Amino acid sequence: MSELNKIALQIISNGKGILAADESTATMTKRLDSVKVNSNENSRLLFRQTLFSSLSMKECIGGVILYDETIRQKTTTGKTIPELINSKGALTGIKVDTGAKVLAGSKQEKVTEGLDGLRERLKDYYNLGARFTKWRGVYLISDKYPSDLSISANAHALARYAALVQETGMVPIIEPEVLMDGNHSAKDCFNKTSEVIKKCYEELELNNVNLSGTILKPNMILPGASSDEKISKEDVAELTLECLKNNVPSSVPGIAFLSGGQTEIEATANLNQINIKNNTDFIMTYSYGRALQQSALKFWSKDINNTIGTQEIFDHRAKMCTLAAKGKWSENLENS
Ligand code: G3H
Repeated sequence: MSELNKIALQIISNGKGILAADESTATMTKRLDSVKVNSNENSRLLFRQTLFSSLSMKECIGGVILYDETIRQKTTTGKTIPELINSKGALTGIKVDTGAKVLAGSKQEKVTEGLDGLRERLKDYYNLGARFTKWRGVYLISDKYPSDLSISANAHALARYAALVQETGMVPIIEPEVLMDGNHSAKDCFNKTSEVIKKCYEELELNNVNLSGTILKPNMILPGASSDEKISKEDVAELTLECLKNNVPSSVPGIAFLSGGQTEIEATANLNQINIKNNTDFIMTYSYGRALQQSALKFWSKDINNTIGTQEIFDHRAKMCTLAAKGKWSENLENS
């Protein structure tokens, strides 16, 4: 077993999942604005430190993805944030892309940037305590999108990123996110996501990436957010498993889904069903941002010094997601 494979398994085994707390300052400011909390370095640190100190961290969270600002911050007790995360038995991850920018040659689509100077930035992050990384490609979906150009440009960037990350001794999370925005059907999402993932693995193999030392972070297969289609969790699970089985090489150890705009309960119920039906060798877990933090953020915003109360809300969510990663969640546990 390679060192990278060991790291990947440490993050996602035994029902553990990933807390995606890597919102950029602009995105975190939007989240804080929505609950009427002033966004500044201290408020962003306080909320995140509150979550990272929670009891459920040891049992449920194998890794935390940070943004550049947070990995350099110290908690109020003097520990660095990576030290706090490590003290809970989890690994520190870092978002290393510099965001999705307009893709030249396609009017509406985006390509994720950040390859320039990446080798040097990765060394810095490793020295700050990071052991895994994230890069997110985003894909619009409609009858003409994603275009071949967007599929190819984003796959190329993801693969070059992954090769550089492994060179530095870290595990790359490969995140190709086909967005939920739009009125497309679940079948369209299935077809386009399949194309996107297939291309990513062609490029990853071309770039000699050791797939056993990577984690895939895809979207689940769902109808668009503004589509009228209603889909059961059984169908979500079936389509998602089919898509991944057909397009992800078996040497990939695990898959950690993004929540992508699903409610906390939807993201938990769908993950649970995926694990009940899992007919692959992949570990299937979560790497949620909103679906782990939404309720905790709302509660915290009422009294930012109520650490215990906020942690209880977060602990509940993390435990529900970990049960779902084992296929052992049920809706009645939500109220227990
Ligand atoms: O890149 C997206 C985040 O890491 C996951 O966020 O679960 O809110 O979609 P989300």
